[in-house]
Amino acid sequence: MDLAERIARLAAVAADLVQPGMTVGLGTGSTADAVIRELGRRVSAGLVFTGVATSSRTEELARDLGIPLTSLDDLDRLDLGIDGADEIAPNLDAIKGKGGALLYEKLVALSCERFVLVATTEKNVERLGERTALPVEIVRFGWRQTARRLQERGYPPELRMSPENREQPFVSDNGSYIVDCDTGPMDDAEEVAAAVKLLPGVAEHGLFMGIARSALQVDPAGTVIRRERTQE
Ligand code: A5P
Repeated sequence: MDLAERIARLAAVAADLVQPGMTVGLGTGSTADAVIRELGRRVSAGLVFTGVATSSRTEELARDLGIPLTSLDDLDRLDLGIDGADEIAPNLDAIKGKGGALLYEKLVALSCERFVLVATTEKNVERLGERTALPVEIVRFGWRQTARRLQERGYPPELRMSPENREQPFVSDNGSYIVDCDTGPMDDAEEVAAAVKLLPGVAEHGLFMGIARSALQVDPAGTVIRRERTQE
């Protein structure tokens, strides 16, 4: 089955989680986009819920689809969050941020009663960092110094460039740069998360530890698999 059809099946199952009246964190990335498009169709058919966008790109898409939005600052908690992932560990810890929205994604995810990852099964890894560099959002002021600290800590950083103009750094919605750090497969991702977070100049990293309660994943045959966080 082709990828688009698999993602469409996944999106339909994920959209079923959204019940009338809910407040829902809307993720960023191609998989989250598919869920938002499906939700847009359901809103047209009468579903009423309120979304909180995790990026300007998602905000624009949701608005185009007629999904009512509110701001994170106007809510105490959200009922549900749905977002993609770059790598998913067996216990549902994850790496996110390839789409450049990790800071806002994490702020929204942490405010959700239930945060659900949506991804293909190809995103599964035994150890985080196996295939994906760790995105780290850093403030622009003195960014070379922050990058040097990451290098010295053992996580060689590469400044992410804008997909539109490869001469210019990518700038997040928060006005920050992103460096992709080569951590290699992590034996202790909690330790990496804590070490990176401590460095001055780091706004946030893409390790989502203990945040996702569930994952919906579609396999190559198009079967949607539900996974629940294992108790630790
Ligand atoms: C956005 O910043 C990311 O965290 C995405 O959620 C993640 O990269 C997954 O994106 P895709 O669904 O496009 O693979």
